[in-house]
Amino acid sequence: MDSVKWIVFYGLFTWIPGIKSFLDIGSVGTAVLAGIYTAYKPVKCYFKECCPADWAHLDATALREDLQTRVFGQDLAIDVIMKHLRAHMTKDPTRALALSFHGGTGTGKNHVSRIIAEGLYQEGMRSKYVHFISATKEFPHVYQVPLYKDKLKELVENSVKDCERSLFIFDEIDKMPPGLIDTLTPYLDFNEHLSGTDYRKAIFLFLSNTAGKEIFHYTLEHQFSRERIGLNEMEQLISKVTVNTNSNGMYLSDVIIKHLITAFVPFLPLKRKHVKKCIKDYLVARNYNKRDSVPEEIVQKIMRELIFFPDDTQIFSVTGCKRVPDKVDYVMYDG
Ligand SMILES: Nc1ncnc2c1ncn2[C@@H]1O[C@H](COP(=O)(O)OP(=O)(O)OP(=O)(O)O)[C@@H](O)[C@H]1O
Ligand SMILES: [Mg+2]
Repeated sequence: MDSVKWIVFYGLFTWIPGIKSFLDIGSVGTAVLAGIYTAYKPVKCYFKECCPADWAHLDATALREDLQTRVFGQDLAIDVIMKHLRAHMTKDPTRALALSFHGGTGTGKNHVSRIIAEGLYQEGMRSKYVHFISATKEFPHVYQVPLYKDKLKELVENSVKDCERSLFIFDEIDKMPPGLIDTLTPYLDFNEHLSGTDYRKAIFLFLSNTAGKEIFHYTLEHQFSRERIGLNEMEQLISKVTVNTNSNGMYLSDVIIKHLITAFVPFLPLKRKHVKKCIKDYLVARNYNKRDSVPEEIVQKIMRELIFFPDDTQIFSVTGCKRVPDKVDYVMYDG
């Protein structure tokens, strides 16, 4: 019996270093594997876009700078957007971010949405986590609202299940059939989880011309102090029009009644100096001119093709920067 004990004891003794080195190899191996995995994830995401696990990669200062250099005359909008984006970028936002962009044609609502998408996602507007929904294209018929509701619900639920930090851009929401937007109510509210999915990290942008006319007239009344127009007065104006105009997709909707819009963002009419900047940008982008050598007489010629308002002072562009590409190409082609 003693000899058996001795053999076991001896065996253990001789094997312990082996076991120990095995364990060492094991822990080194585990650490190596963990290292490879942690390195693999960003490498994998470098080649193929991943859903952002957080917004740690986001450089808010760079996004603000990008907006400030590429968007003209919308300082108020940029300020509001950046403040809300930054507040939403925390680890646990209390609910989804819903920003409603309002303004006349060509003032930069789509342009700004595109820059935001580029700032937040590796693939920008092409990202599979960015969903652009054009109300006029996707939901043209009022009689098909029940079908659209199912489609919309499916889109939002599947997208957020796939990636909590999804971005939804609803364009021309004013042309959306009434009632349809209410499909979004549960996803915009303070619900922690809905059927196991957390919607609070998602971002919704709603773009419309609702209150565009009112913003235009208000800015016209304050034309000499446009730069001093404040957010409060604009928000009041927009929400009043949105609540009272029955020809917009948000009229009498729960989204408005339950105050689910985080902020109304005003896009003011563009002044002559802003349109000139759009013209210069476009001339350079199309290689008509180099940035530092755009002839003033060409800019003036293109400016004469555009319509400004009011008749006496001609301060604001009626179509913002929207018609700039057409007019530049027309004038440059004309020689
Ligand atoms: N404020 C701006 N600063 C710089 N460029 C602008 C601005 N507004 C518009 N643009 C230019 O004009 C183009 C058209 O603007 P955009 O599509 O963003 O207008 P919108 O506000 O969405 O108009 P609409 O109400 O007609 O849809 C943009 O692609 C951009 O090149
Ligand atoms: Mg637009």
